[in-house]
Amino acid sequence: MQIDVVNGDVAKREDPAIVVNLFEGVTQPAGATGAVDDALDGAVSDLIEQGDITGKKGENVLIYSLGKLKSKRVVVAGLGKSEDFDANSAREIHAGVARFLRTRGVNGYATILHGAGVGGLDTSEAAQAAAEGLILGLYSFDKYKSNAGAESIDAVNIVEFDAKKLAEVECGVERGRAIAEAVNLAREMGNEPANYMTPTRMAEIALDVTRGTEMSLTVLDRSEIEQLGMGSFAGVAQGTEEPPKFIVIRHDGDPDNPDNNLGLLGKGITFDSGGLDIKSAAGMLTMKSDMSGGACVIAAMKAIGAFNPKINVWAIVPATENMPGRRAQRPGDVVTAMNGKTIEIGNTDAEGRLVLADALCYAVENGVTRIVDVATLTGAIGVALGDGATGVFGNDQGWVDTVVEAGNSVGERMWQLPTYASYKSEYSSDIADIRNTGGRGAGAITGALIIGEFAGDSRWAHLDIAATTRTTSDRGINPKGSTGVPVRTLVELATSLASN
Ligand code: BES
Ligand code: ZN
Ligand code: MN
Repeated sequence: MQIDVVNGDVAKREDPAIVVNLFEGVTQPAGATGAVDDALDGAVSDLIEQGDITGKKGENVLIYSLGKLKSKRVVVAGLGKSEDFDANSAREIHAGVARFLRTRGVNGYATILHGAGVGGLDTSEAAQAAAEGLILGLYSFDKYKSNAGAESIDAVNIVEFDAKKLAEVECGVERGRAIAEAVNLAREMGNEPANYMTPTRMAEIALDVTRGTEMSLTVLDRSEIEQLGMGSFAGVAQGTEEPPKFIVIRHDGDPDNPDNNLGLLGKGITFDSGGLDIKSAAGMLTMKSDMSGGACVIAAMKAIGAFNPKINVWAIVPATENMPGRRAQRPGDVVTAMNGKTIEIGNTDAEGRLVLADALCYAVENGVTRIVDVATLTGAIGVALGDGATGVFGNDQGWVDTVVEAGNSVGERMWQLPTYASYKSEYSSDIADIRNTGGRGAGAITGALIIGEFAGDSRWAHLDIAATTRTTSDRGINPKGSTGVPVRTLVELATSLASN
């Protein structure tokens, strides 16, 4: 989709539609909405008076201009209460309007920047939110549909009245575009069926992401994984014929200061059948998305490579299927991770922590001191938080706060759960150092703590995205399917750490 920034008066545009807005409770429209109201001989204020336009957030009222404007259609987008308005609202409103017009067969329109005036957003912030909202809201996964793209929005003109602000709008749009395209890459990978999105394909995408940039890529195959002593990861991978890949992308943004680093680790289970502890049919249905954490860290590197922040970022993705093949790992097996710790397999379906254990060892051994892992780790996190927030855990409160703050600042909600040492007895083993499962309660916490056993002296945070990685209906900026959460947080984290 084309997004152009143009100077002028939106009411004078000749486009299939123009979009203006209204805060809830406003009876006398001003600014661009006022200009459109005047041109329509007061139709907008009439509709407000009739109660047909309320300005409630998410409301889109379509008016036909009947020759009074060059554009046939006018949409008045509700911004909600002005005191509740923020950049998230702006993103969601741009997304909602775009989908509203797409279903009406409109293929392009002109819009003002929601929130830049009375809304109180900076011009560049409002422009970034617009680009993100448009690109994220219009995303759809239709490559396997024969009639794909029948309804599509091809071009949106962002109209800025003040010529002095154009450069800032352009700048915000470019930043928003880079971030949203990274999110859509993660979504694309998460939506792709497991017979296409194999570990090999993930490694190819990592290569695409690094191509033409300064970033470097390392991909280890099964024998190299075994040689490095990643027995925990290799154990999960031994039940599948599909070649596993250990994928590492490096952005060396501050090579003189190796301690200025960030490790982004992502669970890359391209299909989770459960292994010999096989899942139910219903439980297996969305398990093509069990590589979403890995997808998000690879996709975040796409934006990080473009922004080139002064920080050394490592993206590390242990990618494999978890299958009950002839050689599959058995419940009761003992595996040895790269740091020498032994793990008894309590359940082959608790495989995420096993692959991340070796990813964490690899990061620590390479001197990474600040780490975030992203994983569709447990069903239990959905019981605790639903899809309202990503669960956050960690071994250092300052680092957890930094990660949660990055999430909040981009509108990807995060909520910390406790990691009290008393939970650790849940996963003690009679025969090995630890077991990969805990007891009945607090499954998301024991899962997190088991990963944390491999964090060494690093500052580590864990994001359990099992319940936030997919949505079952179009909501806000997220169309049904893979959400790409938390790509925007990871990009924000890397860039904000670099500038501080
Ligand atoms: N990939 C699943 C977790 C999951 C569940 C993600 C639902 C998305 C939606 C993970 O590998 C898993 O199977 N976890 C088990 C752990 C248990 C065996 C200790 C679970 O949550 O049941
Ligand atoms: Zn899994
Ligand atoms: Mn599993």
